[in-house]
Amino acid sequence: MKLIFEKSKPGRRASSLPRYDLPPVEVPEELRRTEPPRLPEVSEPELVRHYSELSTRNFGIDTGFYPLGSCTMKYNPRVNEHLAALPGFRDLHPHQDEEAAQGALELMWRLQEALAEICGLDAVSLQPAAGSQGELTGLMLMRAHFAERGEGERRRKIVIPDSAHGTNPASVTMAGYEVVAVETDPRGNVDIGELRAKVDGETAGLMLTNPSTLGLFDENIEEIERIFHGAGALMYFDGANLNAICGIVRPGDMGFDIVHINLHKTFSQPHGGGGPGGGPIAVRDILEPYLPVPQVVCDGERYRLDFERPRSIGKVRGFMGPFGVLVRSYAFIRSYGPALREMSEAAVLNANYLLARLKDAYELPFDRLCMHEFVLSARGLRRDHGVTALDVAKRLMDYGFHPPTIYFPLIVPEALMIEPTETETKETLDAFAAAMLAIAREAAESPELPKDAPQDRPVRRLDEVKAARRVVVRYGFEAHPDLASEAKPAAVSEPSKGG
Ligand SMILES: Cc1ncc(COP(=O)(O)O)c(C=O)c1O
Repeated sequence: MKLIFEKSKPGRRASSLPRYDLPPVEVPEELRRTEPPRLPEVSEPELVRHYSELSTRNFGIDTGFYPLGSCTMKYNPRVNEHLAALPGFRDLHPHQDEEAAQGALELMWRLQEALAEICGLDAVSLQPAAGSQGELTGLMLMRAHFAERGEGERRRKIVIPDSAHGTNPASVTMAGYEVVAVETDPRGNVDIGELRAKVDGETAGLMLTNPSTLGLFDENIEEIERIFHGAGALMYFDGANLNAICGIVRPGDMGFDIVHINLHKTFSQPHGGGGPGGGPIAVRDILEPYLPVPQVVCDGERYRLDFERPRSIGKVRGFMGPFGVLVRSYAFIRSYGPALREMSEAAVLNANYLLARLKDAYELPFDRLCMHEFVLSARGLRRDHGVTALDVAKRLMDYGFHPPTIYFPLIVPEALMIEPTETETKETLDAFAAAMLAIAREAAESPELPKDAPQDRPVRRLDEVKAARRVVVRYGFEAHPDLASEAKPAAVSEPSKGG
């Protein structure tokens, strides 16, 4: 497919009407550019065709099943888009004064209340822009808490299981803490014996995803709570997998003191490739004073931003956070209302149905009922036929499915991490299971098919390292002849984690 610059011909034009509610602006003479901007020149039909074609080159949740484990790529209800686009929300200026933004502030306050209730905790900050930023913010709250108690110097360690997402140890390091790793036991729980041996007076806290990235609910969570709180440490819940437990069990009731919520996963949001997202944090009352400023507060009938919080860790983001994401998530939560529990129940049911259909054809490292996702291994296919998890993922693309997350969690060799979400029908799940079973058969009978896949996609197998290391995002105009030879579309469409 050609780039739009390659389709450009001087003088071709498309047009759109100017906004009727803005006065025309006269740019002062001295500020006007002397040369026209270097934009592609195409007619309207060419423009429409170009972007329509481009949109068909990508795979999204609106084009098909997207079982990217841990990323929760669920359907994004259109009503949310409609609400986020309401002019009162869409055109809000970040510097709008509070009186003129009461509706937006009320929505944020109500979302804070709803998230606190879902998590079983006392207070929420909507500021962090992603789960990973929520992690860092949560750890900064821990630091502030221990510093104020005079334990900041002593408590330097954060315990993380070996199944954790990579952002957990990264956040711990960024927050100035030291990572202490614990292993997973043969049932897929955190190894409780090792935990007991490693938690002491130097421990600041635990970071845990429950259900874990193996899709398993930790059977010893009450004992884990006793160990950490018994040692005076805090518990951080990585809420990336909240989709499995909404309305069923609350992190606060499990003993967690801090939670981040990946709004873009559990509460729907068109996302992938790093954005856009939201990572609010919910905390127990003892940590509330340290929350970032400003907090949205309600004084009776009126909503306002509260900056007067002397023990706050300060600001973690410009303005008030990802507002459009907040509107969509609020709309999502209100659409379900008290039936939010059914969302999680359906997600868990769908995952267990798929697991039951696939577990004889692929290895299952931990043979238990799963939560909203599960991890299979292609180790047997690799050993017997030389077909890897990557080959299975690529072959799924030929069958019209987005690949699952692969090679994660790191403790499962040749991992295939599958998360169907609650919105998929039995017909879709059956079609996916049929494709996975067909690929397992192909691995034995004609392994070149998966090894050579994808065959039916716009691009074949890519040099992933080069695609990641030498991303070309600029067109090589004559002014940059060095780029001209590289001005090909940057390789994308890899089965990587979309967040
Ligand atoms: C278990 C887990 N924790 C944390 C994160 C980080 O969240 P975000 O991508 O919103 O920064 C992810 C993202 O995929 C995750 O799966």
